[in-house]
Amino acid sequence: MPVPEFEKSMFEALLARRSVRRYKPRKVESSTINNLLEAAVRAPTALGQEPWAFVIIQDKILLKSLSDYAKPLFLSQIHQHQSKQAQHKLDLFNRPDFNIFHDANTLIVICGEKNAPFFTADCWLAAENMMLAACAMNLGSCVIGSALSAFEVPEVRTKLRIPDNYSAVAPIVIGYPDEKNIPSSRKSPVVFSCISEV
Ligand SMILES: Cc1cc2nc3c(=O)[nH]c(=O)nc-3n(C[C@H](O)[C@H](O)[C@H](O)COP(=O)(O)O)c2cc1C
Repeated sequence: MPVPEFEKSMFEALLARRSVRRYKPRKVESSTINNLLEAAVRAPTALGQEPWAFVIIQDKILLKSLSDYAKPLFLSQIHQHQSKQAQHKLDLFNRPDFNIFHDANTLIVICGEKNAPFFTADCWLAAENMMLAACAMNLGSCVIGSALSAFEVPEVRTKLRIPDNYSAVAPIVIGYPDEKNIPSSRKSPVVFSCISEV
């Protein structure tokens, strides 16, 4: 595969990546999607299993209906875990105009083959590869964990042709950002020990 022209080096992308929640209407080209999938499958994979497979949705009407379907499922699932702080964010999910996919027009769901011993780890590593590659190409991305319960529903799985032996692990929206990128702040790394030879 020819290497795409990246706008940022990998380390720049790592520092610049943020969850993007406002997107321009411009569709992500299929050649770009192919580059993102290529980046995803370069992730480390336990026992060389490569247990991932992808669902790609670029249909805004389908995404809106999936969002409407997922919102009450997510709220009922999260109900017992919520803190006061989370409550404020969860109020959004009761708004009919709130689209959990942030009106992006591309959703890539990374699915994992359930028999592979570390399929969730493999899929999340693929997800991060994909999000960093997206950022390096000046695309935005966001993990949409709140969509996950919907991908367990048989009718949704049938519609998206997800086989029974696969589980949806990482739903990621991708698109052209329509917001300013503000670098993230993070706590300093906690280091329990740092042991080296004397
Ligand atoms: C497992 C997981 C699930 C997430 N689910 C959502 C989600 O449903 N909706 C959303 O807008 N962001 C979601 N996020 C994004 C986080 O909110 C975001 O990564 C976090 O606030 C840190 O911000 P940053 O990605 O800009 O550094 C999720 C992130 C992870 C890792």
